Amino acid sequence: MSPTNPQILPYGEAAIADAARVIADGGCVAVPTETVYGLAADATESRAVAGIYAAKGRPSFNPLIVHVLDLAAAERIAVFDADARALAGRFWPGPLTLVLPLRADAGIAALVTAGLSTIAIRVPAHRAMRALLAATGKPLAAPSANASGGISATRAEHVVASLGDRIPLVIDDGATPGGIESTIVRGREVLRPGPLTEEELFPDEGRGPVTTFSDTGPRPSPGIVEAPGQLASHYAPSKPVRLNATMAGEEEWLIGFGAVAGDESLSLTGDLTEAAANLFDALHRADAAPATAIAVAPIPNTGIGIAINDRLARAAHPR
Ligand code: TXA
Ligand code: MG
Repeated sequence: MSPTNPQILPYGEAAIADAARVIADGGCVAVPTETVYGLAADATESRAVAGIYAAKGRPSFNPLIVHVLDLAAAERIAVFDADARALAGRFWPGPLTLVLPLRADAGIAALVTAGLSTIAIRVPAHRAMRALLAATGKPLAAPSANASGGISATRAEHVVASLGDRIPLVIDDGATPGGIESTIVRGREVLRPGPLTEEELFPDEGRGPVTTFSDTGPRPSPGIVEAPGQLASHYAPSKPVRLNATMAGEEEWLIGFGAVAGDESLSLTGDLTEAAANLFDALHRADAAPATAIAVAPIPNTGIGIAINDRLARAAHPR
């Protein structure tokens, strides 16, 4: 490895070979997925996993998502019931994370699950993460590639800005297509809203009002993890964030949507999928802008708008 961290390599055979070497040596590498960039390490090696926590400055009670190439690999790690298998069949590879009982013989480092008896697992669709999984032949633990509590990274530059020389290598494959972290499901419960909506996941269910963790306020004291990473303050820029703004106040950088133009717009046409893809990039730009505060236009709370509002509520929550 070059002495100057991090090295940024464009996606390709050479980059994947280098990354696989770093991972075989117990290191971690930033790699894009279809949702956000992940910080990947060998999930079977506790020292490698400890390196992820150290680079992110992540509280160790917050467990990580494990990425594998296919359902067969997932079944060697977690116990699937018929419902879980059906969801996997419909949505993998893709932005769906299943929380399932951990198999006793899974060989996953205890640090990955932070001592829970369940594991969060997904089969990613992005070519770079898939190539890395194939090259390493290992399940890869990979949280979002940003400093703990900070804004998630949808571009290699965001990773470098957030983690800098704490990691050796970033594989750059441009902006991630989805822009928002995977939907996390346990049984029939959505623990973290994401690109796949409850309606898509469970179309047969009669549903009451949507409840997300942003509605239920800050989590109780840390330690016991119910839906861990759903901390009240997360994705947070370094400046105050005001939501549901239709006009910029003095000193505010306004992130618009639809009819609210703003200094920039998540989607001028009011397209929620486009807004999700632009969200973290817009927050990074707002954070870097000269304005001392950030305002964000109202986002409709439907479809992937629910996930966008979940992330915005955490970005706006005082730390
Ligand atoms: O799209 C994604 O999911 C991205 C990409 C890189 O795959 N990863 C990601 O990981 O968002 P991370 O570590 O930032 O978020 C993982 C979330 C956290 O909220 C964590 O608490 C939760 O998954 N989690 C992990 N294991 C869990 C478990 N056993 N039970 C409940 N929640 C769990
Ligand atoms: Mg994260």
